[in-house]
Amino acid sequence: MPFDKAAALLHEVENANPSNAEELEQFRIKYIGTKGALKDIFAEIKNIEPARKGEFGQLTNKIKQTAEEKFHRIKEKIEEEALSNIVIPDLFAPAEPVQNGSRHPVAIMMNRIVEIFLRLGFTVEEGPEIEDDWHNFSALGMPDDHPARDMQDTFYVAHDPTHLLRTHTSSVQIRVMEYKKPPIRAIFPGRVYRNETISARAHAQFHQVEGLYIGENVSFADLQQTLLHFAKEMFGVATKIRLRPSFFPFTEPSAEMDVSCFICEAKGCNVCKQTGWVEILGCGMIDPVVLENCGIDTEKYTGFAFGMGVERQAMLQYRINDIRLLFENDVRFLRQFESTI
Ligand code: PHE
Repeated sequence: MPFDKAAALLHEVENANPSNAEELEQFRIKYIGTKGALKDIFAEIKNIEPARKGEFGQLTNKIKQTAEEKFHRIKEKIEEEALSNIVIPDLFAPAEPVQNGSRHPVAIMMNRIVEIFLRLGFTVEEGPEIEDDWHNFSALGMPDDHPARDMQDTFYVAHDPTHLLRTHTSSVQIRVMEYKKPPIRAIFPGRVYRNETISARAHAQFHQVEGLYIGENVSFADLQQTLLHFAKEMFGVATKIRLRPSFFPFTEPSAEMDVSCFICEAKGCNVCKQTGWVEILGCGMIDPVVLENCGIDTEKYTGFAFGMGVERQAMLQYRINDIRLLFENDVRFLRQFESTI
């Protein structure tokens, strides 16, 4: 009986033909593994009469050898096949071109402005784009029915007249004054919103960089020198500035600043409308009422503030004649600017 079982097993092993890794593993478990059929057959040796033990031993060894030899031969074959299926890339082929990103012109301008003020020791602060009425208007000297509110067509949050999309970064002045003690020297870059009809010259969203300096004995002369330094760094050392009296509800006195046209070197061109000057920012000495609104001692401290539009400067610098291009995200337009590497 054990001889018959062994002969049948040998026959089975000889005829088995595992053709892939999975079948080969089944083969190994079934015949060679520690719980496999061979082990059962070896165990039968104790039931064999002594005269035939040798013969039975040979038979079982033959099954073992056949199974192991078959296992190794097929294993090797499968491994070779797997290797020959690997596609070796052409190491001499030219590299695929990598499309570099490029910075947005508004971001380039914003970074340049920020860098100039960082070198002067200003810190960078941020505030929320959804603002409350107090920070955007009231604290800045624009109570409820102040006519200056109409100058800035405001987007209000639906069903909530107390919250709005900030119309200028001056709201951050208030926030910073509320949580910092003077001396304060900070700039606030950010996005602002106004309900304007979108055209080549105006957009409903744009960016500003606001600056604030509060300390003892801060004077209008400090404002003027700081802005002159900025203008020279930004537009070239030959740049001149001109301050024209103006009005903002939160500064007194207030001014608008022009820089000498760096395109025509103040000779007159269509960018400066033949005047030789281009307007770039609003500024002034912070009204003591505003300082008091934020708990700052006006006996001790004075301060100046300024706010500039970033798109306008990008348009001047790169001669972009339609502000809408800055918000369309057309990569053919955007690729023309400074690469990110
Ligand atoms: N917030 C003003 C504007 O948006 C600019 C400004 C800032 C003016 C700070 C004076 C001081 O037009």
